Amino acid sequence: MSPSDTEFLSLRMPRVSPSGQDVLALLESERPDIRSVTEAIHHDPVLSSAVLKYANAPMYRRLVEVTNVRQAVSILGLANVRLAVMVASMRDFADDYRDHPLANAIWSHSFTMAALMRAIADMAVPRRAEDIELTGLLHEMGALILLTNFPEEYTGLAEEALAEDAFLEDREKAFFGITHNELVARVIDEIRLPDASRGAITDFPYMEQVPLAGREVDDHLAVLALAHHLHEEAGRQPHHPRERIPDQRDRLLEALSLDEADLAALQQQHKALRDSYGVGG
Ligand SMILES: [Fe+2]
Repeated sequence: MSPSDTEFLSLRMPRVSPSGQDVLALLESERPDIRSVTEAIHHDPVLSSAVLKYANAPMYRRLVEVTNVRQAVSILGLANVRLAVMVASMRDFADDYRDHPLANAIWSHSFTMAALMRAIADMAVPRRAEDIELTGLLHEMGALILLTNFPEEYTGLAEEALAEDAFLEDREKAFFGITHNELVARVIDEIRLPDASRGAITDFPYMEQVPLAGREVDDHLAVLALAHHLHEEAGRQPHHPRERIPDQRDRLLEALSLDEADLAALQQQHKALRDSYGVGG
């Protein structure tokens, strides 16, 4: 039996810590002050370690390990500090599922997509690259929310979708009446998700074609869709069910003004990312 509306209203949702909220508020100001941001991060050990981990992630990897918050903030840049706050909140939220194969698959997929989408956006829409990276990082956050609230049901549903090569979103809709994408809209206020990220994540699976008008949300959608095409072409990721992906790859390439040489470079980057996050396939 699927959960009732009342159950959805009382779902356990990710929370941003008070220091995390301070950091997000500082980042929203017109000219964020790096020193105040660094201080706010210092007040929260979980946040400090998330920022350090993020600065040492494969996509930013330096020759020498980054060991202090001030240095991490300057390497990441303020926009990526926002990403680290989100990661810390989600990690904290899903902490009991650290060793769960589906949760791990969702994290690997989210990090790989975030970095790949950043690479695509750097080529196609550089002014939106940081926000688009955030969309990639959070696009499956709803799956973690479903997993932590309905562990048995959601694990079973995902395993069934995997075994039958069915779309995960279709199974979610049939069982919960909502997809993990739509669920993201319910946490919008808490995590201060920008409108373009929210719109792209919510609309993504059941859109046949991405509108290519160049609105901000359409750029997010086109990059999200192209990244998923590249990911699918490289082979299925273990434990990660199939997703609905709108559009044809060729149409998306054209919309983003990318050519075959760009595509080959992106495929290379994608391969390196999959290897570094242990995604396999
Ligand atoms: Fe995805």
